[in-house]
Amino acid sequence: MPAPSASRRVLVTGGCGFIGSHLVELLLAGGDRVTVIDNLSTGRADNLKGVAGHANLRIRTGDCADELAALGGEVFDEVYHLAAAVGVKLVVQSPIECIETNVHQTSAALRFALRAGPGGTPAPTLIASSSEVYGKSERTPFAEDDDVVYGPTSKARWSYAASKAIDEYLALAHHRQHALPVVIARFFNTVGPRQVGDYGMVLPSFVRAALCGQKLRVFGDGKQSRCFCDVRDVVWALPRLLRTPACAGRVFNVGAAGGITIGELARLVIKTLASTSEVELVAYDQAYDAGFEDLRKREPDLARIAGAIGFAPRITLEQTIADLARQMQQDQIGPESMHPSQPVNPSFPRTGAAPAHGAWGSQR
Ligand SMILES: NC(=O)c1ccc[n+]([C@@H]2O[C@H](COP(=O)([O-])OP(=O)(O)OC[C@H]3O[C@@H](n4cnc5c(N)ncnc54)[C@H](O)[C@@H]3O)[C@@H](O)[C@H]2O)c1
Repeated sequence: MPAPSASRRVLVTGGCGFIGSHLVELLLAGGDRVTVIDNLSTGRADNLKGVAGHANLRIRTGDCADELAALGGEVFDEVYHLAAAVGVKLVVQSPIECIETNVHQTSAALRFALRAGPGGTPAPTLIASSSEVYGKSERTPFAEDDDVVYGPTSKARWSYAASKAIDEYLALAHHRQHALPVVIARFFNTVGPRQVGDYGMVLPSFVRAALCGQKLRVFGDGKQSRCFCDVRDVVWALPRLLRTPACAGRVFNVGAAGGITIGELARLVIKTLASTSEVELVAYDQAYDAGFEDLRKREPDLARIAGAIGFAPRITLEQTIADLARQMQQDQIGPESMHPSQPVNPSFPRTGAAPAHGAWGSQR
């Protein structure tokens, strides 16, 4: 990555979210001046409490498109667009809002970026996409130029994938038609401190249950596998992708290789946290609508991003689980919902040692 220039002006949409907040911390630590736009729909102001009051941080609470319009002719050196309605569960519950958010907000961010650079030039822009874009293709691992396969439009589940695919088409069209230096980051399962389980994210749900001594609910037979990458590894990659000119106009998988079945993940959480919890298998039909389609395996091909910026995730899943559990305990998220008759395993450290990779967002 080129040496950081003094105080870049950076815009982060969705900066109060799980991934966005780690990115904001990383950028501030690098000396950048950061403007966050977030409507706090799924994000939390608390996610940025570690940098609250920072002289280089400005937070604008509101809808992305409205706030971009209000920023007018303000100049930015970089734009990171992470604001989105996230996850399959949310899209199944509120499909119209999710589809509209993902498409309209991205369109607004790209149009803003076209003239946001110094002198009205295009500002380098990163668009957050998702491994969901691959749909139900059975190919493994997924490489960026592979074909995608979706289910029918009558199944709301695929509208999240389709909305993110439209975001990608739009971004690439802006690159071709208007020379916008745009990079698309296709995130695979990203995990770590501050992630919440409310929208169907598996690891925080498991960690919370393990801390509370409740059953870890595994959908289906638990043999479906996923690759989990720590958020601190993920955000390390984003400025590097955006600041490497050869990455412009390209799509990159961002995630970890290998993979673990969801059943194994549940057992790993229990073991890592020395929990007394048990695993319970739950039929998909009880968790989602009847006929819900899930993928058996989803793994990224990381050759492109490794070649472009030397990306190689470093944080182990055990470390991520321990750090997430520690953050939940410190934030009192878990204990609030804990039943007095189901105490946290007393051997679990409430104020554990510092993470092996240092403070949040600066692990490398
Ligand atoms: N976490 C993952 O594993 C994962 C996987 C694939 C893709 N992604 C993508 O990464 C990005 C960040 O996801 P995350 O996991 O941090 O989720 P998140 O829900 O924590 O972050 C999204 C943020 O966007 C904000 N937001 C939503 N709609 C908005 C709007 N209209 N205006 C302003 N702000 C708005 C939310 O309040 C939230 O803070 C998203 O684009 C998501 O699709 C995440």
